[in-house]
Amino acid sequence: MSFATFALTGSVPERYAQLLAQARALLHGEHDPIANAANLSALVYHALPELNWVGFYFFDGTELVVGPFQGLPACVRIPLAKGVCGAAATTRQTQRVEDVEAFPGHIACDSASKSELVVPLVGADGELIGVFDIDSPLLSRFSVDDQEGLENIARAYLESL
Ligand code: SME
Repeated sequence: MSFATFALTGSVPERYAQLLAQARALLHGEHDPIANAANLSALVYHALPELNWVGFYFFDGTELVVGPFQGLPACVRIPLAKGVCGAAATTRQTQRVEDVEAFPGHIACDSASKSELVVPLVGADGELIGVFDIDSPLLSRFSVDDQEGLENIARAYLESL
C-alpha cells in the first residue's frame, strides 16, 4: 500500500492541521512504537521545509537512546542531564531553542543544526517514554505555531501506542 502525501497549503496552523490528519491516517490501526516513530519521522521530515533532522529518542530507564529518525547519523545516547533533549525529558516541557549554540550543554550531533524543537513524550501513567526532536539549519526556525503543531503530532504518536 502506498501512502499519498499532499502538499500542505495555507497558514502555518492550517498546514499543521493537514499534517496532523496525514499523521493520524498513517498511524491508524498500528500500535507498534518503532513502526509509528519511523513513519512519523519520515512524514514530518518530508512535509516541512528547512529541517535537517527529525526523530525520536527513547528513555531506556537511564538515558535517551536514539530511535527512528530522518537525517544524518546521530548521537546514540544522551544523558538526561545533557542537551536540549535531556532538558525536554527532565522538565517535561517542550524546548523551543532559537539558537542551539546559546543553549547550555547543547550536543552538536549535526553541526548544521541551528535551532531545535524537542517535545517530551510522557505516557498515560506519567512515565517518560522519550522525546521527539526536530532540528533546523536555520536560526529561529520554530514559532509558537510550529510548537503547537508538533506537540499535536507528538500527542498523536502517544495515542497510537
Ligand atoms: N542536539 C540535540 C542532540 C540530538 S541531535 O540534534 C539529533 C540536543 O542537544 O539534545
